Amino acid sequence: MPACDGDLRLQGVGDLMTIQVRVGPSRIAGQGLFAAQAIPKGTRIIQHIGEKISSRERARRLAAGNAYIFHLTYRYAIDGQTLDNTARYINHSCAPNCEVEKTSDIIWIVAVRDIAAGEELSYNYGYDARNYQENPCNCGAPNCCGYILAQEYWGLIPR
Ligand SMILES: C[S@@+](CC[C@H](N)C(=O)[O-])C[C@H]1O[C@@H](n2cnc3c(N)ncnc32)[C@H](O)[C@@H]1O
Ligand SMILES: [Zn+2]
Repeated sequence: MPACDGDLRLQGVGDLMTIQVRVGPSRIAGQGLFAAQAIPKGTRIIQHIGEKISSRERARRLAAGNAYIFHLTYRYAIDGQTLDNTARYINHSCAPNCEVEKTSDIIWIVAVRDIAAGEELSYNYGYDARNYQENPCNCGAPNCCGYILAQEYWGLIPR
């Protein structure tokens, strides 16, 4: 009998079937990724795919301005700059409807609440507070902290 915490999680649904998404102009920034169907909370929506690179190569590419690199472990990262990576269009929000779930090799984007068809998908990029002023946030959420920043650092910046 599986454990039940009273919260129905459809974890793994995205493993078994394709969740319909579409790329389109975003109110947050440039292009964004949108739900093209209703998505229940807990659904693994899409993988952030790309070249697996070393931490050293990650540092080099970040310094060169690559905005699509995803930290995987202390040794590896995924460079999702490839156009095959539809998840590259997901923008940051301070009130996101998705979160990131990592295994040692795979990065999933998972719904943290029920998402309606047409909603833009977002997650918190989880940036640390170094040079935070270089990354102003345009997410438009009522609780926006003003910067693309992991929530744990919000208390450290002037409001
Ligand atoms: C992974 S891309 C996201 C897709 C991007 N909008 C595009 O058109 O390719 C990350 C870049 O999008 C922009 N971006 C994402 N979320 C943002 C936000 N909340 N506020 C301002 N810019 C954002 C930043 O330029 C960031 O470097
Ligand atoms: Zn914001």
